Amino acid sequence: MKLLEGKTAIITGASRGIGKGIAEVFADHGANVAFTYSSSVDAANALEADLKSKGVNAKGYQSNAASFDEAQQLAEDVLTDFGGIDILINNAGITKDNLLMRMGEEDFDKVIEVNLKSVFNMTKAVQRTMLKQRKGSIINMSSVVGVKGNAGQTNYAASKAGIIGFSKSVALELGSRNIRSNVIAPGFIETEMTAKLDEDTVKGWRAAIPLKRGGTPEDIANACVFLASDLSAYVTGQTLNVDGGMLT
Ligand SMILES: NC(=O)c1ccc[n+]([C@@H]2O[C@H](COP(=O)([O-])OP(=O)(O)OC[C@H]3O[C@@H](n4cnc5c(N)ncnc54)[C@H](OP(=O)(O)O)[C@@H]3O)[C@@H](O)[C@H]2O)c1
Repeated sequence: MKLLEGKTAIITGASRGIGKGIAEVFADHGANVAFTYSSSVDAANALEADLKSKGVNAKGYQSNAASFDEAQQLAEDVLTDFGGIDILINNAGITKDNLLMRMGEEDFDKVIEVNLKSVFNMTKAVQRTMLKQRKGSIINMSSVVGVKGNAGQTNYAASKAGIIGFSKSVALELGSRNIRSNVIAPGFIETEMTAKLDEDTVKGWRAAIPLKRGGTPEDIANACVFLASDLSAYVTGQTLNVDGGMLT
């Protein structure tokens, strides 16, 4: 059963990892997919072709999520190219880990700008369209680290916790217009972001997860399908942990 037939989704940061997984699963469910990336032009072109081969409309846009102006331009372009925006997934994110003692101001600011300010930028950019349509589903990618905190990630944890507060506030502001806003908090998902970690750390993490494995981009994508589709029509303001039981 295709759950997103005819809907248009913007997915930020989809040239690889979780975003790419979401784009693929959304296309399988019939969604038209507008996605962004930062610098991976070849990967973005390959994904665009792959999504189109699934029979949906798809386009990649090089757009810096941290830039307010680029987010405005992106929303305008997507509206022109696709004719509507039903779903926004704020997925783009980076890490710049260090102990607080060693963390420079630049690495704090950069992570907040790409991970948190981007969510403000994109939500503002699609708000008018969703208000006019009187419907919309916004899904923001936080992390278990935003719920629990993590040594060595003060910048990242602050950005991801900020997303939860922002998303709940949007749910309260826009609920009366049938615009829903929810958060997914992935646990340990095996992508290029986590490939930076050393193998012993990774083994330890897998062993500590109740389901005894790292997650896949598809695990996150399937949760996004639920929150994007009408199956979750009465769900807003929530944070869904998709973490193999990590925070239990
Ligand atoms: N992996 C995990 O275990 C995990 C756990 C919890 C939460 N998350 C969150 O899930 C999201 C995706 O993570 P991931 O593991 O898939 O990361 P990833 O493999 O590093 O991919 C990051 C994606 O974001 C894009 N991107 C980076 N900076 C950008 C910017 N300024 N503007 C637009 N796009 C930008 C990248 O584009 P380029 O390819 O062009 O650089 C890429 O497509 C992030 O928000 C992350 O914090 C991940």
